[in-house]
Amino acid sequence: MLQRLKSLFSPAPPPPAPAEQWAAVDDYLSSLLLPPDPALNQALRVSQTAGLPAIQVSPLQGKFLYLLAKAIAARRILEIGTLGAYSTIWLARALPADGLLVTLELDPRHAAVARENLAGAGVSERVEIHLGQALDSLARLVQEGSQPFDLIFIDADKPNYAAYFEFSLQLSRAGTLIVADNVIRKGKVIEENSSDASVLGMRRFLERVAAEPRVTTTALQTVGSKGYDGFALILVES
Ligand code: SAH
Ligand code: DHB
Ligand code: MG
Repeated sequence: MLQRLKSLFSPAPPPPAPAEQWAAVDDYLSSLLLPPDPALNQALRVSQTAGLPAIQVSPLQGKFLYLLAKAIAARRILEIGTLGAYSTIWLARALPADGLLVTLELDPRHAAVARENLAGAGVSERVEIHLGQALDSLARLVQEGSQPFDLIFIDADKPNYAAYFEFSLQLSRAGTLIVADNVIRKGKVIEENSSDASVLGMRRFLERVAAEPRVTTTALQTVGSKGYDGFALILVES
């Protein structure tokens, strides 16, 4: 009764805008689940100072990638799209000392920042940055008879995702896990008549994956400090 009377006179404050709420919840979860991490924080600072776009995965998403790699005991990881190596550091930390992460980056400025950040995190020894068009680097890996990767993280230019998936299949074995970032794009993925090449590229990618009998796939929408997006999780079965 008293509660009801009180609420009559002091109505609850309006709920925060959704994006602020998602960020506040991410802050709460991060404060509980992510111990202070000087190397990762330094990597973010260096990337920001160098003027790189702040489009790396969130800290909680980075840890999600780390946990996936750990859970499957990944020894060989392929990343398409390095930026400042924020996700790369998370993934590399999941590798054993003799593991390998190959990460593909087009922009030499990004690669230079990534190199500095990988060194700062003490994982340079386990990471190779292949500079150039990812499609060329992937063709080279296939041509050189690369061993299959255990985990592949697709996170570069969205119009090429379908092509990255084709190469990923060629660099996989039964059991390889493929994770693709940014498959929801604030919900724009359902706009079949979009004029946005990234949205159309994502739709081509999802349709190609859906039609591929060798894989089993799901996709999840996510909200958090990076807004509203999502990822696809693809298991290569044969
Ligand atoms: N995985 C990173 C973010 C990657 S952002 C993280 O979460 O920390 C996408 C990156 O892909 C950018 O650095 C961009 O330069 C790179 N990229 C874009 N097009 C590319 C291409 N055709 N080949 C290789 N890299 C590309
Ligand atoms: C963009 C790219 C990403 O990989 C991401 O996670 C967020 C945004 C972009 O190109 O805008
Ligand atoms: Mg991304």
